[in-house]
Amino acid sequence: MNADDKPQDPLVCTSSGGVAPRVEISAGTAVLLSLALACAGACAQTVSAAAPLRQWRTPPLGDALRGMALYQERCTACHAVDSNKTGPAHRGVMGRRVGSMPGYKYSIELAQSRLRWTPQTLNAWLEDPEELIAGQRMGFQVESEQERADLIAYLAQLK
Ligand code: HEC
Repeated sequence: MNADDKPQDPLVCTSSGGVAPRVEISAGTAVLLSLALACAGACAQTVSAAAPLRQWRTPPLGDALRGMALYQERCTACHAVDSNKTGPAHRGVMGRRVGSMPGYKYSIELAQSRLRWTPQTLNAWLEDPEELIAGQRMGFQVESEQERADLIAYLAQLK
């Protein structure tokens, strides 16, 4: 078998257009190896752009009642549970795609984000929104890990 017989090998970068398998080299491994080397840079770049390596942290167990009090105290200047204000409405936010509340005009950065709201992404967002999604428009942070956990527990039960 020569390299042309197995174009779908997952090791071979399919975007390496110009680098065609050179069949005069008989050893298939040599061809695959050179292909892998030739496209390693491009492949690695694509992968890291799509999914930057990040250590997601799961917040500790939160108290939804304390979270509700914190929400009313800190978040309602800009947010409401059921209506879009300065910030988007929050009912159903857990599990929703980032930047997807109908009728709210998000920053381009949020609208184009491919993240989903989970305890981990909410934790990172509330700790430092700009660090999570550079260019976003929420100028507010929650420093305490336990307070973030309480807020997340509250948001999770807004169904
Ligand atoms: C000073 C105003 C302001 C405050 C205070 C504020 N936010 Fe926001 N929030 C925003 C804005 C504006 C956005 C939209 C950001 C964008 O489009 O870039 C947002 C977006 C969000 C989102 C993303 C929602 C979605 O639909 O993708 C979450 C979650 C969120 N805020 C949670 C909170 C929580 C919880 C608090 C309180 C601890 C809070 N925010 C306090 C202004 C605020």
